[in-house]
Amino acid sequence: MHIAIIMDGNGRWASKNNLSRNEGHKIGSEVLQDIIEYAKELNIDYITAYAFSTENWSRSTEEVSGLMKLLENYLARAIKKARSENVKVRVIGKKEGLSAGIIDKIDKLEESTKDKTGTCVTFAINYGGRDEIVRACSNILKDMKEGVIVNTQISQELISQYLDTSGMPDPDLLIRTSGEMRTSNFLPWQLAYTEFYFLEKMWPEFTREDFDEALRMYSLRNRRFGKS
Ligand code: FPP
Repeated sequence: MHIAIIMDGNGRWASKNNLSRNEGHKIGSEVLQDIIEYAKELNIDYITAYAFSTENWSRSTEEVSGLMKLLENYLARAIKKARSENVKVRVIGKKEGLSAGIIDKIDKLEESTKDKTGTCVTFAINYGGRDEIVRACSNILKDMKEGVIVNTQISQELISQYLDTSGMPDPDLLIRTSGEMRTSNFLPWQLAYTEFYFLEKMWPEFTREDFDEALRMYSLRNRRFGKS
């Protein structure tokens, strides 16, 4: 139902191929587009991709501005395509820190696709899982003070409702490329019972066949959710 992806290894792949890191990200964005198309063909309900983390700001100015330009162009193209596609787009992460141009495109894209019933594609932009939890707690506190929430105990359901992913099912499968075996502050709350699939390939080398293989491996897992 829901697949989350950490698209890692663009930089290493680019250096190996004598390209700039930003060229690696550009190819990475094309691979992501193809995998989204494939996920739509497979009728996967949700696909969530980690495009830019709250920690990525510490990269070089050149890389950060290249990534921001890439994201803005990608969002602009998605707005044009949105009318003819049955895809719902969501963006999770913190708006503060993003340019007005990007925020405007995110708002337009979310608004114009909100009633679509097909695959929900979520981009994590300026996203950090701990930051998301802190923002959720602050908003709960604010709503309690303002009387929006009354007589409500803090519960897992309440916290889930205040996360950026509110209303979405938790990911069933997380795919991470490049051989790194960690989650890097991506969806820490939501990945509690998610199956992980790590592969050595760098993200620009990732193919539909690799996606098939991840699904095949997933189908062999026995998900017990803590039960016996
Ligand atoms: C990790 O590779 C990748 C990123 C930090 C950015 C991911 C972004 C994209 C694939 C393209 C933009 C996305 C959209 C939605 C247009 P890395 O740079 O950490 O690679 P390295 O570990 O080899 O250095």
